[in-house]
Amino acid sequence: METAAIVASGLVKRFGDVPALDGIDLTVPPGTVFGLLGPNGAGKTTAVRILTTILRPDAGEARVFGHDVMADPEAVRNSIGLAGQYAAVDENLTGTENLRMVGRLTHLPKALITERSRDLLERFDLVEAANRPVRTYSGGMRRRLDLAASLMHRPPVLFLDEPTTGLDPRSRSELWAVIEDLVADGTTVLLTTQYLEEADRLADQLAVVDHGRIIAQGTPAELKASLGSTVIEIGMPGEGSALMALQALGRVGIQPPVLEGTTVHLTVSDGPSALLEVLRALDAEGIAPSGVTLREPSLDDVFLSLTGQPADASSGGEPADSPLRGVA
Ligand SMILES: Nc1ncnc2c1ncn2[C@@H]1O[C@H](COP(=O)(O)OP(=O)(O)OP(=O)(O)O)[C@@H](O)[C@H]1O
Ligand SMILES: [Mg+2]
Repeated sequence: METAAIVASGLVKRFGDVPALDGIDLTVPPGTVFGLLGPNGAGKTTAVRILTTILRPDAGEARVFGHDVMADPEAVRNSIGLAGQYAAVDENLTGTENLRMVGRLTHLPKALITERSRDLLERFDLVEAANRPVRTYSGGMRRRLDLAASLMHRPPVLFLDEPTTGLDPRSRSELWAVIEDLVADGTTVLLTTQYLEEADRLADQLAVVDHGRIIAQGTPAELKASLGSTVIEIGMPGEGSALMALQALGRVGIQPPVLEGTTVHLTVSDGPSALLEVLRALDAEGIAPSGVTLREPSLDDVFLSLTGQPADASSGGEPADSPLRGVA
């Protein structure tokens, strides 16, 4: 069997009482993109830090191209690149100077440093800003420079921790295109994200992480199939009518409807026809909604569907089988 690019089994990491990772297993075949999808505090950065040898796990093991992260961290570091959640570039150096510094730190020959920094600045559309200090860069430019820096030594495996968080939609899709190019060239990528849309666009396989555990795993298509391709939200004027709507809609959708405040959430596989069904079911009971929305599923919907809790509230230690789930 071909050696996996990244394998981890039983990774555990605690910070005091907080189990940041509570037994994570994953396998990433070479040349593929693996997405770790989860809300704030799920354990994504902790997993990345262990896999990139920055942090030692309390239990479990991990290998990158066969090199053990604890026994042979040097070999692991030589085969990986890391672009962290917060761009690790030097504010006071220019773009070119940052790349050259990374080149020296990774012991590249001088000629190669010059050649690669020039190529990368071009590839990441930073030529015009190349001689300006990074403190004058926008967030998107910093992210691109940080990614360029992680590519100076041409690593076969790239770790990207929330590569597009905080970027505007245009910078985000530009960065997606860059990542897709790298993958087309054969780079293996492990990325973390809070955006289902991002995981859907980039990842071959994804794992949903919550409280340091993987709570669902599969291809984006598999996950969306279980989730439904469309979310319908029916806003109701009050709690009483919201409960009535929840009852009336028990049979519509591929999963039981979920109530959040005075809004009923439904996941459906065919939006337009389900919407008609929703309106007919409500009308038949004489229930008038105050608003109806049809949209693509988000990370929050994944969490509602998997845990019965919105992603934000899922850190509150509530039971997974919320009483609001599947009332009808
Ligand atoms: N150095 C640390 N000391 C104490 N607690 C920590 C430390 N690093 C992480 N934690 C805790 O471990 C848990 C997981 O944190 P982690 O940074 O891995 O989450 P994350 O999924 O990357 O979140 P985010 O999306 O906000 O970046 C959190 O509860 C966090 O507070
Ligand atoms: Mg993080």
